[in-house]
Amino acid sequence: MLADRLVAEWGDRFDIVTSLAGRTQAPGATPGEVRVGGFGGVAPMARYLEDRRVCALVDATHPFAAQISENARIASATARVPRLALVRPPWERMPDDNWLMQPDLASAAAVLPGIGRRVFLTVGRTDLSVFAACPGLWFLVRLIDMPDAALPLSAYEVISGRGPFAVAAEQRLMEEHKIDALVCKASGGEATRAKLEAARLLGIPVLMVERPPVPDGPVVDNVDAVIDWFDEQVT
Ligand SMILES: NC(=O)c1ccc[n+]([C@@H]2O[C@H](COP(=O)([O-])OP(=O)(O)OC[C@H]3O[C@@H](n4cnc5c(N)ncnc54)[C@H](OP(=O)(O)O)[C@@H]3O)[C@@H](O)[C@H]2O)c1
Repeated sequence: MLADRLVAEWGDRFDIVTSLAGRTQAPGATPGEVRVGGFGGVAPMARYLEDRRVCALVDATHPFAAQISENARIASATARVPRLALVRPPWERMPDDNWLMQPDLASAAAVLPGIGRRVFLTVGRTDLSVFAACPGLWFLVRLIDMPDAALPLSAYEVISGRGPFAVAAEQRLMEEHKIDALVCKASGGEATRAKLEAARLLGIPVLMVERPPVPDGPVVDNVDAVIDWFDEQVT
Protein backbone atom coordinates (compact mmCIF):
# COMPACT_ATOMS: atom_id res chain seq x y z
CA MET A 1 0.00 0.00 0.00
CA LEU A 2 2.83 2.36 0.84
CA ALA A 3 4.68 1.69 -2.41
CA ASP A 4 1.39 2.13 -4.33
CA ARG A 5 0.83 5.55 -2.80
CA LEU A 6 4.43 6.74 -3.09
CA VAL A 7 4.70 5.68 -6.73
CA ALA A 8 1.32 7.24 -7.57
CA GLU A 9 2.11 10.55 -5.88
CA TRP A 10 5.88 10.90 -6.29
CA GLY A 11 6.93 8.32 -8.88
CA ASP A 12 7.56 10.98 -11.54
CA ARG A 13 10.17 12.75 -9.37
CA PHE A 14 11.72 9.99 -7.26
CA ASP A 15 12.75 6.37 -7.57
CA ILE A 16 10.62 4.51 -5.03
CA VAL A 17 12.61 1.44 -3.96
CA THR A 18 11.10 -1.36 -1.87
CA SER A 19 13.62 -3.61 -0.16
CA LEU A 20 12.37 -7.11 0.62
CA ALA A 21 14.22 -9.57 2.83
CA GLY A 22 13.46 -12.35 0.33
CA ARG A 23 11.85 -14.80 2.72
CA THR A 24 8.80 -15.73 0.64
CA GLN A 25 8.80 -17.50 -2.73
CA ALA A 26 6.16 -15.31 -4.38
CA PRO A 27 5.92 -11.89 -2.77
CA GLY A 28 2.95 -9.75 -3.84
CA ALA A 29 3.32 -7.35 -6.78
CA THR A 30 4.93 -4.08 -5.72
CA PRO A 31 5.09 -1.01 -7.95
CA GLY A 32 8.34 0.89 -8.37
CA GLU A 33 11.77 -0.70 -8.01
CA VAL A 34 12.11 -3.82 -5.85
CA ARG A 35 15.39 -5.12 -4.46
CA VAL A 36 15.58 -8.41 -2.60
CA GLY A 37 17.89 -9.71 0.14
CA GLY A 38 20.05 -8.42 2.96
CA PHE A 39 22.77 -5.85 2.40
CA GLY A 40 25.50 -7.75 4.23
CA GLY A 41 25.29 -5.66 7.40
CA VAL A 42 24.87 -2.06 8.49
CA ALA A 43 27.90 -0.57 6.72
CA PRO A 44 26.94 -1.87 3.26
CA MET A 45 23.37 -0.70 3.89
CA ALA A 46 24.66 2.80 4.71
CA ARG A 47 26.80 2.71 1.55
CA TYR A 48 23.75 1.72 -0.47
CA LEU A 49 21.85 4.73 0.92
CA GLU A 50 24.72 7.03 -0.06
CA ASP A 51 25.36 5.48 -3.47
CA ARG A 52 21.70 5.68 -4.43
CA ARG A 53 21.43 9.18 -2.95
CA VAL A 54 18.45 8.08 -0.91
CA CYS A 55 16.58 11.11 0.44
CA ALA A 56 14.19 9.35 2.85
CA LEU A 57 13.94 5.90 4.41
CA VAL A 58 10.74 4.32 5.72
CA ASP A 59 11.26 1.33 7.97
CA ALA A 60 8.06 -0.56 7.15
CA THR A 61 9.19 -4.03 8.12
CA HIS A 62 7.32 -6.51 10.32
CA PRO A 63 7.13 -5.50 14.01
CA PHE A 64 9.14 -8.62 14.94
CA ALA A 65 11.93 -8.01 12.40
CA ALA A 66 14.01 -6.20 15.02
CA GLN A 67 17.35 -6.65 13.26
CA ILE A 68 16.09 -5.01 10.09
CA SER A 69 14.78 -2.05 12.10
CA GLU A 70 18.04 -1.74 14.04
CA ASN A 71 20.11 -1.91 10.84
CA ALA A 72 17.88 0.74 9.26
CA ARG A 73 18.25 2.98 12.32
CA ILE A 74 22.05 2.88 12.33
CA ALA A 75 22.53 2.96 8.56
CA SER A 76 20.22 5.96 8.11
CA ALA A 77 22.03 7.84 10.90
CA THR A 78 25.40 7.02 9.31
CA ALA A 79 24.26 8.15 5.86
CA ARG A 80 22.32 11.12 7.31
CA VAL A 81 19.08 10.03 5.72
CA PRO A 82 15.82 10.98 7.47
CA ARG A 83 14.02 7.86 8.72
CA LEU A 84 10.46 7.14 9.76
CA ALA A 85 9.13 3.87 11.19
CA LEU A 86 5.73 2.66 9.97
CA VAL A 87 4.47 0.25 12.62
CA ARG A 88 1.04 -1.28 12.25
CA PRO A 89 -1.22 -0.88 15.28
CA PRO A 90 -1.40 -3.86 17.63
CA TRP A 91 -4.60 -5.91 17.84
CA GLU A 92 -7.12 -4.79 20.40
CA ARG A 93 -8.14 -7.24 23.06
CA MET A 94 -11.90 -7.91 23.28
CA PRO A 95 -13.67 -8.68 26.57
CA ASP A 96 -14.10 -12.40 25.78
CA ASP A 97 -10.55 -12.91 24.59
CA ASN A 98 -8.45 -15.27 26.66
CA TRP A 99 -5.00 -13.94 25.84
CA LEU A 100 -2.00 -14.95 27.90
CA MET A 101 0.67 -12.37 27.11
CA GLN A 102 4.20 -13.78 26.83
CA PRO A 103 7.37 -11.68 26.83
CA ASP A 104 9.01 -13.90 24.20
CA LEU A 105 8.71 -17.21 22.36
CA ALA A 106 10.75 -19.14 24.93
CA SER A 107 8.26 -18.16 27.64
CA ALA A 108 5.37 -19.19 25.40
CA ALA A 109 7.00 -22.60 24.83
CA ALA A 110 7.60 -23.01 28.57
CA VAL A 111 3.98 -22.46 29.59
CA LEU A 112 2.34 -24.10 26.56
CA PRO A 113 2.22 -27.70 27.93
CA GLY A 114 0.08 -26.45 30.80
CA ILE A 115 -2.35 -24.73 28.41
CA GLY A 116 -3.16 -27.15 25.57
CA ARG A 117 -2.28 -30.40 23.79
CA ARG A 118 -3.23 -29.58 20.18
CA VAL A 119 -1.72 -26.26 19.24
CA PHE A 120 -2.23 -23.96 16.26
CA LEU A 121 1.21 -22.41 15.80
CA THR A 122 1.43 -19.26 13.67
CA VAL A 123 4.78 -17.76 14.60
CA GLY A 124 6.57 -18.12 11.25
CA ARG A 125 9.13 -20.55 9.89
CA THR A 126 12.27 -19.31 11.60
CA ASP A 127 10.98 -19.48 15.17
CA LEU A 128 9.70 -23.06 15.38
CA SER A 129 12.66 -24.75 17.03
CA VAL A 130 11.91 -23.25 20.43
CA PHE A 131 8.78 -25.45 20.48
CA ALA A 132 10.81 -28.64 19.88
CA ALA A 133 11.19 -28.88 23.65
CA CYS A 134 7.42 -29.23 24.21
CA PRO A 135 6.98 -33.00 24.66
CA GLY A 136 3.60 -34.61 24.04
CA LEU A 137 2.13 -31.68 22.11
CA TRP A 138 0.78 -31.82 18.58
CA PHE A 139 1.11 -28.75 16.33
CA LEU A 140 -0.82 -27.43 13.37
CA VAL A 141 1.78 -25.14 11.77
CA ARG A 142 0.76 -22.58 9.17
CA LEU A 143 3.49 -21.07 6.97
CA ILE A 144 3.35 -18.82 3.91
CA ASP A 145 5.29 -21.35 1.80
CA MET A 146 5.38 -25.13 2.30
CA PRO A 147 8.77 -26.03 3.81
CA ASP A 148 11.19 -28.14 1.79
CA ALA A 149 12.56 -29.93 4.88
CA ALA A 150 11.08 -31.47 8.02
CA LEU A 151 10.19 -29.01 10.77
CA PRO A 152 12.02 -29.18 14.11
CA LEU A 153 8.93 -30.55 15.91
CA SER A 154 8.10 -34.14 16.80
CA ALA A 155 4.37 -34.25 16.00
CA TYR A 156 2.83 -31.81 13.57
CA GLU A 157 0.95 -31.12 10.38
CA VAL A 158 1.99 -28.19 8.21
CA ILE A 159 -0.31 -26.17 6.00
CA SER A 160 0.43 -23.13 3.85
CA GLY A 161 -1.59 -19.97 3.60
CA ARG A 162 -1.24 -16.24 3.24
CA GLY A 163 -3.80 -13.83 4.66
CA PRO A 164 -6.27 -12.34 4.60
CA PHE A 165 -8.08 -15.20 6.33
CA ALA A 166 -11.83 -15.34 7.05
CA VAL A 167 -13.18 -15.96 10.54
CA ALA A 168 -15.47 -18.85 9.50
CA ALA A 169 -12.63 -20.66 7.75
CA GLU A 170 -10.30 -20.15 10.71
CA GLN A 171 -12.97 -21.50 13.05
CA ARG A 172 -13.51 -24.55 10.83
CA LEU A 173 -9.77 -25.19 10.65
CA MET A 174 -9.41 -25.10 14.42
CA GLU A 175 -12.46 -27.31 14.96
CA GLU A 176 -11.37 -29.88 12.37
CA HIS A 177 -7.98 -30.21 14.03
CA LYS A 178 -9.39 -30.15 17.58
CA ILE A 179 -7.16 -27.20 18.42
CA ASP A 180 -7.14 -26.25 22.10
CA ALA A 181 -4.48 -23.50 22.11
CA LEU A 182 -3.26 -20.85 19.67
CA VAL A 183 0.25 -19.39 19.71
CA CYS A 184 0.93 -16.22 17.76
CA LYS A 185 2.99 -13.05 17.75
CA ALA A 186 1.30 -9.73 18.55
CA SER A 187 1.88 -8.69 14.95
CA GLY A 188 -1.33 -6.72 14.45
CA GLY A 189 -2.82 -6.15 11.01
CA GLU A 190 -6.03 -7.14 9.30
CA ALA A 191 -4.71 -10.06 7.26
CA THR A 192 -4.21 -12.43 10.19
CA ARG A 193 -6.67 -11.09 12.73
CA ALA A 194 -9.41 -13.68 11.97
CA LYS A 195 -7.69 -16.46 13.95
CA LEU A 196 -8.13 -14.37 17.11
CA GLU A 197 -11.82 -13.93 16.51
CA ALA A 198 -12.16 -17.67 15.81
CA ALA A 199 -10.28 -18.48 19.03
CA ARG A 200 -12.59 -16.15 20.96
CA LEU A 201 -15.70 -17.78 19.48
CA LEU A 202 -14.36 -21.25 20.32
CA GLY A 203 -13.14 -20.26 23.79
CA ILE A 204 -9.56 -21.21 22.93
CA PRO A 205 -6.70 -19.62 24.91
CA VAL A 206 -4.15 -17.59 22.97
CA LEU A 207 -0.49 -17.36 23.92
CA MET A 208 0.33 -13.92 22.54
CA VAL A 209 4.01 -13.10 22.24
CA GLU A 210 4.68 -9.41 22.86
CA ARG A 211 6.50 -7.24 20.34
CA PRO A 212 10.13 -6.27 20.68
CA PRO A 213 10.63 -2.54 21.40
CA VAL A 214 10.04 -0.09 18.56
CA PRO A 215 13.31 1.51 17.38
CA ASP A 216 14.12 5.05 18.58
CA GLY A 217 12.86 7.87 16.42
CA PRO A 218 9.60 8.99 14.85
CA VAL A 219 6.89 6.35 14.44
CA VAL A 220 3.53 6.44 12.64
CA ASP A 221 0.91 3.73 12.27
CA ASN A 222 -0.65 4.43 8.88
CA VAL A 223 0.25 5.07 5.26
CA ASP A 224 -1.34 8.55 5.14
CA ALA A 225 1.01 9.70 7.88
CA VAL A 226 4.02 8.41 5.94
CA ILE A 227 2.89 10.33 2.86
CA ASP A 228 2.56 13.51 4.95
CA TRP A 229 6.05 12.95 6.38
CA PHE A 230 7.52 12.35 2.94
CA ASP A 231 5.87 15.53 1.60
CA GLU A 232 7.56 17.45 4.43
CA GLN A 233 10.94 15.91 3.64
CA VAL A 234 10.91 16.79 -0.04
CA THR A 235 8.99 20.07 -0.34
N1 LIG B 1 10.20 -11.83 12.36
C1 LIG B 1 8.91 -12.12 12.14
O1 LIG B 1 8.17 -12.56 13.02
C2 LIG B 1 8.31 -11.87 10.80
C3 LIG B 1 6.96 -12.16 10.61
C4 LIG B 1 6.39 -11.94 9.36
C5 LIG B 1 7.16 -11.44 8.34
N2 LIG B 1 8.48 -11.17 8.56
C6 LIG B 1 9.24 -10.66 7.45
O2 LIG B 1 10.30 -11.57 7.20
C7 LIG B 1 11.45 -10.84 6.75
C8 LIG B 1 12.63 -11.19 7.64
O3 LIG B 1 12.30 -10.90 8.98
P1 LIG B 1 13.32 -11.31 10.12
O4 LIG B 1 12.66 -11.11 11.42
O5 LIG B 1 13.94 -12.63 9.80
O6 LIG B 1 14.44 -10.21 9.91
P2 LIG B 1 15.55 -9.72 10.93
O7 LIG B 1 15.97 -10.85 11.81
O8 LIG B 1 15.13 -8.45 11.56
O9 LIG B 1 16.76 -9.36 9.90
C9 LIG B 1 17.35 -10.37 9.09
C10 LIG B 1 18.25 -9.77 8.05
O10 LIG B 1 17.54 -9.09 7.03
C11 LIG B 1 18.46 -8.27 6.31
N3 LIG B 1 17.92 -6.93 6.05
C12 LIG B 1 18.09 -5.84 6.81
N4 LIG B 1 17.46 -4.79 6.27
C13 LIG B 1 16.94 -5.21 5.12
C14 LIG B 1 16.20 -4.57 4.12
N5 LIG B 1 15.87 -3.29 4.18
N6 LIG B 1 15.79 -5.28 3.09
C15 LIG B 1 16.09 -6.59 3.02
N7 LIG B 1 16.79 -7.26 3.95
C16 LIG B 1 17.22 -6.56 4.99
C17 LIG B 1 19.65 -8.12 7.19
O11 LIG B 1 20.66 -8.88 6.58
P3 LIG B 1 22.09 -8.24 6.23
O12 LIG B 1 22.81 -8.15 7.54
O13 LIG B 1 22.66 -9.19 5.26
O14 LIG B 1 21.86 -6.89 5.62
C18 LIG B 1 19.18 -8.69 8.51
O15 LIG B 1 20.23 -9.21 9.26
C19 LIG B 1 11.07 -9.39 6.75
O16 LIG B 1 10.63 -9.06 5.44
C20 LIG B 1 9.90 -9.32 7.71
O17 LIG B 1 9.04 -8.24 7.39
C21 LIG B 1 9.07 -11.38 9.75
